[in-house]
Amino acid sequence: MTYDRLTIWLHWLTAGLVLVLWALAQIIDFWPPASFGRVAVRSTHILLGLVLVAILLARLIWRLHGGRQLPPAQTGLLGLAARLTHWALYGLLTLALAAGIANVWVRGDSFFGLFRLVSFAPGDRAMRQLIGSLHEVPTNLILIVAGLHAAAALFHHFIKRDGVLRRMLPG
Ligand code: HEM
Ligand code: HEM
Repeated sequence: MTYDRLTIWLHWLTAGLVLVLWALAQIIDFWPPASFGRVAVRSTHILLGLVLVAILLARLIWRLHGGRQLPPAQTGLLGLAARLTHWALYGLLTLALAAGIANVWVRGDSFFGLFRLVSFAPGDRAMRQLIGSLHEVPTNLILIVAGLHAAAALFHHFIKRDGVLRRMLPG
């Protein structure tokens, strides 16, 4: 038994976008302040971030209404650990995305040089730093937890040779 196609697509789109968003955030500073390159990379990060917000909402709605839910692949403590990891990932994604939107709102950046996004606290550097950290901490935690989660999936596939990874693969 595998997850349904939509669940599988939403899962891999989420995983791919998290990696791309994290990588984009790392290269923003490669360009000098106020240069178009910096604005374009940051704006792409914001745009793809909003796409991920829509994907996460779609995933949560689909999970509650119609998406296939499978019983834990294992019983006992390992099954509980897997469930907690999945809920931690949903929780951290929600925090990171909400703080990402707040980050856009507090900074008032230019969007691809077309227009400036509204800032609710212009000039308040302390607030800007606080919200920046509230965004950065969960994004880094996601990478750690998702890394453990992916390692567990690969362990199942290559060492235990059971069908857990195939549950989340198309076809
Ligand atoms: C899980 C998805 C996301 C990841 C992994 C991610 C990752 C990051 C990281 C690592 C930073 C750098 C933090 C720093 O050095 O201060 C950052 C900055 C930022 N993020 Fe995200 N982010 C995500 C989603 C979003 C979303 C949804 C938005 C808004 C719609 C957003 C808007 C921003 C903004 C405006 C910055 C500041 C850019 C700058 O310093 O020039 N992010 N993000
Ligand atoms: C940022 C990256 C990732 C995130 C945020 C993420 C998130 C999640 C979440 C929330 C679930 C639970 C699905 C549900 O029951 O609603 C899940 C399941 C799953 N993920 Fe990921 N994932 C990521 C990367 C990966 C990678 C890289 C792999 C494989 C190498 C993977 C393999 C799986 C598998 C096999 C399941 C199903 C587990 C089961 O049926 O017990 N994930 N993932």
